[in-house]
Amino acid sequence: MNSVKSIAESPDLNHIPSIYAYSVNSTEPPASDTQDEIPTVDFSLLTSADPDLRSKTIQELDMACKDWGFFRVINHGVPEALMHMVIEKSAEFFDLREDEKKEFEEKGVLDPIRYGTSFNSKKDEILYWRDFLKVIIHPDFHYPNKPSGFREVLMEYSKRTREVVKGLLSGISTSLGLDQSYVQKALKLESGLQIFAANLYPPCPQPELAMGLPPHSDHGLLTLLINNGVGGLQIKHKGKWVNVNNDLPNSFLVNIADQLQIFSNGKYKSVEHRAIVNNVVTRLSVAVANGPSLDVVVEPAYKLVTEERCVPGYIPMKYKEYLEMQQSNKIVGKTCLDRVRYEK
Ligand code: SIN
Ligand code: FE2
Repeated sequence: MNSVKSIAESPDLNHIPSIYAYSVNSTEPPASDTQDEIPTVDFSLLTSADPDLRSKTIQELDMACKDWGFFRVINHGVPEALMHMVIEKSAEFFDLREDEKKEFEEKGVLDPIRYGTSFNSKKDEILYWRDFLKVIIHPDFHYPNKPSGFREVLMEYSKRTREVVKGLLSGISTSLGLDQSYVQKALKLESGLQIFAANLYPPCPQPELAMGLPPHSDHGLLTLLINNGVGGLQIKHKGKWVNVNNDLPNSFLVNIADQLQIFSNGKYKSVEHRAIVNNVVTRLSVAVANGPSLDVVVEPAYKLVTEERCVPGYIPMKYKEYLEMQQSNKIVGKTCLDRVRYEK
């Protein structure tokens, strides 16, 4: 299948091929007129020596997870230069010749390295204006052997982002009323799955007709997002699409994903988001999806359900099965999560 990049680069392209025409479903919510900004969490304060400051920050994290499920994280300790290198090396990957990238073309959804286009080009009825590279970087570390230097950058980024995720999940464990290391132990984060996903959205001649990524929620626990400074990410908040521009340098956009909704028994909800495209510049984003260990059966935290005497709202399912189900189907909003929800 042709990459979007190769289509976008064809001379005199002024229409998108009809297979890319996305008809906005009439049930899609409108754009929001809100000026509200997603919340910001100061990561360094989660471990502050001052207990008042620490508990205030945990409270802010709790509100950010409850009200938005999508927030900025600052003072996270990942070097800015490394974040730039990640964007740069990803761009270099997409700039390789098509025949060089073909070597990594995806076959199965759990292949350690997958270069592809759209979301699931075998199932999508219409195609999305996006090329991607997905690499499993933990618990086993994989890397494409091109471009040179990608390996080192990926390895360091994996290590550094896992530290951020560990810190955020300790905070979340506390804000859920559990011991600080409860989430980490129950979901076996030491061998947690980490997937690096670079997304390329080349300029599109008819941006109002195409979609970069359709509305979806992520499958894991927390996703860390960065981009090349070009807007296009929208999140569904209070039933409307809100633009999220990463205008704060050196910050991560973090979102709650499905396994955390299940584990928190719905206290924190995964957030639908999508990527729209533009006709001016290429947008590049890098998402690092962080999940439990693949062999963990995820269900609402036992301690949470018993202490709060509430009914578990989700059917237990092994993370590996959930991931395969989400990745091998057509993606439609949060319908994958609906499949493990107990009927109310
Ligand atoms: C994603 O949902 O993985 C990507 C979002 C983005 O491109 O900002
Ligand atoms: Fe996503």
